[in-house]
Amino acid sequence: PSDTGRVLSIQSHTVQLLGFDVDPINSVQFSNHTGYPTFRGQVLNGKQLWDLIEGLEENQLLHYTHLLTGYIGSVSFLDTVLQVVEKLRSVNPDLVYVCDPVLGDEGKLYVPQELISVYQQKVVPVASMLTPNQFEVELLTGLRITSEEDGLTACNTLHSAGPQKVVITSALIEGKLLLIGSHKKTEEQQPEQFKIEIPKIPAYFTGTGDLTTALLLGWSNKYPDSLEKAAELAVSSLQALLKRTVEDYKMAGFDPSTSSLEIRLIQSQDEIRNPTVTCKAVKY
Ligand code: ATP
Ligand code: MG
Ligand code: NA
Ligand code: MG
Repeated sequence: PSDTGRVLSIQSHTVQLLGFDVDPINSVQFSNHTGYPTFRGQVLNGKQLWDLIEGLEENQLLHYTHLLTGYIGSVSFLDTVLQVVEKLRSVNPDLVYVCDPVLGDEGKLYVPQELISVYQQKVVPVASMLTPNQFEVELLTGLRITSEEDGLTACNTLHSAGPQKVVITSALIEGKLLLIGSHKKTEEQQPEQFKIEIPKIPAYFTGTGDLTTALLLGWSNKYPDSLEKAAELAVSSLQALLKRTVEDYKMAGFDPSTSSLEIRLIQSQDEIRNPTVTCKAVKY
């Protein structure tokens, strides 16, 4: 596998990093993220997405190595994304589809309820890698995740539905913040499973979920046989970036624990390109 590829990224925010050519399709164009009191702008609908795909097709530009999707706000848009997956795989059968099934967090759903079954029945089966958080895994599998054991069982359930790689990007289990990864390399083998304990920073950040999935895509392309390595690099980059974010806020005279922090993405390019592994994976 080469370390460069071409990603079609259908996300509300896009990161371009680690040597990929990224063609971003903005599923929304907002003045600011929705954590602010108000926002303005436009939402792309399924028909408009398909129009862009047809434009790419007319010019024979549909050869992608990866598709990355994040927040999707309606069933009609998600159905069109499914058509995109099919279309891209007809051009490149080896297309890797990295799906962040953004549904909600900490018990709160932030998409329409009817999206859950579309993800379960149609999206999970075609995804190559899935990056849910704890609440999203629960919604997708119907299992409650209160222990590490539960997390691993849920990963197995998801593997049997489709994806070879599953990363629970964050789960609060017995007071600890964990990433749990699971890589089912072949049909016959048991998945290789691991956890990474993440030092919890007492602050709330926006955009970390999107970045985590993008970093996992990037590092998994470099280390296709070691989800563990990819996750260590992704988490370590992110922790360095969050540390910088907190320091920058403090330097500017803000108390980082009292508001939602905008991550210092551009300022952290070195940590993204050349992370030092500070968070090690532990095998199960
Ligand atoms: P999505 O938003 O895509 O549904 P998510 O809920 O998993 O996913 P986050 O909660 O942002 O997204 O977590 C993603 C990663 O961000 C975690 O794996 C962790 O490394 C990092 N992270 C986020 N908040 C913190 C924090 N307060 N302290 C330490 N790490 C954090
Ligand atoms: Mg979260
Ligand atoms: Na996630
Ligand atoms: Mg999130």
